[in-house]
Amino acid sequence: MADNMIHIRKLTPVIGAEIFGVDLAQPLDDRDFATIQQALMDNLVIFFRDQTMGPVQQMAFGARFGKLHIHPAAPSVPGHPEVMIIHADANSTYVNGESWHSDVSCDEEPPMGSILHIRTLPEVGGDTMFANMYSAYEALSAPMRAMLDGLSAVHDGELLYRGRYTANDAGRVYPKATHPVIRTHPVTKKRALFVNSFFTSRIVELSKAESDAMLAFLFRHIETPEFSCRFRWEKDSVAFWDNRSAQHHALWDYFPATRSGTRVTIQGDKPF
Ligand code: SIN
Repeated sequence: MADNMIHIRKLTPVIGAEIFGVDLAQPLDDRDFATIQQALMDNLVIFFRDQTMGPVQQMAFGARFGKLHIHPAAPSVPGHPEVMIIHADANSTYVNGESWHSDVSCDEEPPMGSILHIRTLPEVGGDTMFANMYSAYEALSAPMRAMLDGLSAVHDGELLYRGRYTANDAGRVYPKATHPVIRTHPVTKKRALFVNSFFTSRIVELSKAESDAMLAFLFRHIETPEFSCRFRWEKDSVAFWDNRSAQHHALWDYFPATRSGTRVTIQGDKPF
């Protein structure tokens, strides 16, 4: 392996890989960009260690993969609305992402990917789990897949965002969208389960009782351990995940310790 070659080491056979030999604070040449892009398609979430980039460099890295997304509710770094603050400490009453979800799936065009840089973390704890939604789809029986293939579901930002980031958000309208229950990844063309417990409120074509039962089953199915990996952060680790094929869950097992960093999110397109 030449010195300047990127090296990829899988975390599990199903999801996740660590990437070595790249400094994300520097502009990516086309070869490294293509390698990272392919690693993301192959592994759904990729991890980097010892990255000392600041928010501006994080934005530049994200912008290589698409236009940057502005979060509809969460706080951002002053002067940089594209850089979302991820922070929890002894005063926190919630943390971002503490249940299985795909980021901002309530948007009409939900984000394709998110890049999280953690700079402060507890001595132990604060891991993030990621799960493969191709595997979740493929593990369903053929009749179940056939039924879900034709269904769509409402994703409602109201469920998560109302009163969460500011007590006084009366009159504010949060995004709401309808997406296929099973989406086709625009790059890999593979089918992935696309409902999540943060945002998905209702399967449109089913009665309310049927929808509640089906979503409860699917939310439980997504948690199947064999679909997942668990990432242990170190100071200046970066995770880059594909929201179209993976879901994630941030573990808040470190209260009252502090964990903080910044997330840059990349715009996506309408699920089909
Ligand atoms: C998120 O959902 O973006 C938060 C993930 C994390 O803090 O690990």
